[in-house]
Amino acid sequence: MATSMLGGGVVIAGTGAGDDDALAPVRGPADGGVEKKVDRLLKQMTVDEKLQQVQLLSDGQITDDDAKKGVGGVFSLTDPAKIDHYQHIAVERSRLHIPILFAYDTIHGYRTTFPVPLAEAASFDPGVAGDDFTISARESAAVGIKQIYAPMVDVSHEPRWGRIVEGSGEDPYLGSVMAAAKVRAAQGDDYAADDKVVTSVKHFVAYGAAEGGRDYNSTDVSERRLRDLFLPPFKAALDAGADTVMCSFNSLNGSPGCANAHTMTDILKGEWGFDGFVESDYTAVAELRACPPKNPDDGPCGHGMAADGAAAGALALNAGTDSEMVSTNLRDNGKQLLASRQISIRRLDDAVRRILRVKFRAGLFDHPYADRSKVAERTLRPADRAKARAAVGKSVVLLKDDDGTLPIDPSKSVAVIGPLGDDQHDMLGPWWGQSQDEDAVSLLAGVKAQDPDTTFAQGCPMVDADLYDPKNECPDDSGFADAVAAARKADQVVLALGEVRGQGGEAEVRSKIDLPGRQLDLLKAVKATGKKVTVVLFNSRPLDLTDVAANADAIVEAWFPGIEAGNGLADVLFGAVDPGGKLPVSFPRSVGQVPISYNHEPTGRPCDASQKYNSRYRDIASCDPLYEFGYGLSYTTFKFDNLVLSSKSMSPRDSVKVSVDVTNTGSRAGDEVAQLYLHDPVASLSQPVRRLRGFQRVTLKPGEKRTVTFRLDASDVGFSDDAGRFVVEPGEIDVFAGDSSKADLTDSFTVTGGSRR
Ligand code: BGC
Repeated sequence: MATSMLGGGVVIAGTGAGDDDALAPVRGPADGGVEKKVDRLLKQMTVDEKLQQVQLLSDGQITDDDAKKGVGGVFSLTDPAKIDHYQHIAVERSRLHIPILFAYDTIHGYRTTFPVPLAEAASFDPGVAGDDFTISARESAAVGIKQIYAPMVDVSHEPRWGRIVEGSGEDPYLGSVMAAAKVRAAQGDDYAADDKVVTSVKHFVAYGAAEGGRDYNSTDVSERRLRDLFLPPFKAALDAGADTVMCSFNSLNGSPGCANAHTMTDILKGEWGFDGFVESDYTAVAELRACPPKNPDDGPCGHGMAADGAAAGALALNAGTDSEMVSTNLRDNGKQLLASRQISIRRLDDAVRRILRVKFRAGLFDHPYADRSKVAERTLRPADRAKARAAVGKSVVLLKDDDGTLPIDPSKSVAVIGPLGDDQHDMLGPWWGQSQDEDAVSLLAGVKAQDPDTTFAQGCPMVDADLYDPKNECPDDSGFADAVAAARKADQVVLALGEVRGQGGEAEVRSKIDLPGRQLDLLKAVKATGKKVTVVLFNSRPLDLTDVAANADAIVEAWFPGIEAGNGLADVLFGAVDPGGKLPVSFPRSVGQVPISYNHEPTGRPCDASQKYNSRYRDIASCDPLYEFGYGLSYTTFKFDNLVLSSKSMSPRDSVKVSVDVTNTGSRAGDEVAQLYLHDPVASLSQPVRRLRGFQRVTLKPGEKRTVTFRLDASDVGFSDDAGRFVVEPGEIDVFAGDSSKADLTDSFTVTGGSRR
């Protein structure tokens, strides 16, 4: 275990974060049969055919001619007839009959859109991610897609960054558990199966550390933070079997993701022994060029590391990129690069070998075409929708619930109000796969299904548009009077506020993270009626909810819940489902606190908002975020006690068990997430004030008690140094258990020896 950065800190009792094996590697040694087939094929390939194999084209680029020449991969093509068409050409009319690998961004559902990944992380239940990726893989494979560009595992402390919604939030351990669950579900034991796909874990690496939160922006990250914060979910995904990786747009310490030999060749392929392939992100190879580019037809420019397309292709290949997405620098210049020895045939062969290996493992040579008899699997199925609905219930986080505002009293009348109240389009989130807006259940439709007399008033519009225009963001109060009238007539109000889906996702960065437009004024106007107001939030990122919290009686964080949005939310609002989700990312008090995360390192002057000369904000009266990582309420109450360590000391070759009792002290059944955090108080490099190393979601009846047990070993207590070594040091480790990152039940044990490797 000591070479792994991932922990033994997994739950060993009950269900949820997994059993002892949740993060254990699944792939054995390379399959000799596959290797022989790859060798045989490679020997027959011409240089031109090899250069075709490392080319990845989009749906808009692919032609019959490309298929005939033996292009390696195609992405974003979803029409099964077209996929079939190009595959037939590649298999029947290309010289060596090598099938194409078809790929798609199946991020949180292909046809059955699940809650966005950040929401799934909020479930603290890998089973939710597993359901999503089991269905996603089956639906994708049914049309001939055999690779998915997921899971996205970028850890981020940046709520301004719109892509925070695509990952699992701010914590590497939670991100690792979710990543492993997704890969296992999508690939199974053998991704050649006709309902499985190979996963591509992305974006390698530190893309979530974008400076200023601006997408594609530079990052500068120490080796130890790289290894302890950003790399662990990638390693977890690979250990779970992920066989492809996407290198990222951003530069890391001056070296762009797809030109970074340290991350791709030294760490990924060297230290970790990764034998699959790395594809570039979209035109990321062209973007290595200096601007203005010598040949603008070759795609965009930017990083200023290559004088022309040929140099960009060489740089990317030599650093470890195996496949070029959209731009064609390697394919077009490869022969010249070989002749001038800027690339070697050995490295080109290595890239081709990796791509062929994955194609053989995917069973594409035996079954290149999607099974037409599986056409039913391309349609929405009630059983899948039921799983998506359950996922909504599990992903919701109850942030506030004063005086029993929730669950809603079904005997009293309800008004749904707000710009996102009767909205199908935005429920699907920023990657909606092949779902149509009309597939989605709006909040109003879901509430009405359980209470047909529910009324509605929009209050103001929120319009999804590509570019910012204040007119699209709840621009004025002209609809407030109707909203107030609807509130007056009802006994209780559900107010749907937040962002549209286009305000999150790729390239969608906000400099403010409060409610767009006049939505807060709408909340105040409705609240002034004196009715109990439950705010249901739809959003891609942590928002500044300071003013919302001051005005709402209850707040339900719904994220973007997918096609079953309204039904899943109504289950929670009416109390059929207890909200047990927890925040996978801190919600700051203002954008000025960003970046903020629970797992920050300590300072010599820890924050004390009431004193001078310490690490505080002068104008924020608290050191904490508004809602911390791991926080979330329930309709019932829980008590944590009886924290027990199996031993007060642990040798680096041994493990220690930590158990804690969780009791439902309320009068309803409900869900709680037991969380285990560690801190190393004296280390040769200053360590984060807390690090999550175990969690378990439990459902308990009133009065029921459950003992949750976690196992810790050297991999949980060690850390990385700036030479990239994993260090375990002797000394004390503090343990905290409870219901959030502020957990205060504590004890400690002593690590009796050390190691450095
Ligand atoms: C995104 C990737 C995505 C790719 C293909 C890029 O712009 O960064 O996440 O997989 O496009 O759609």
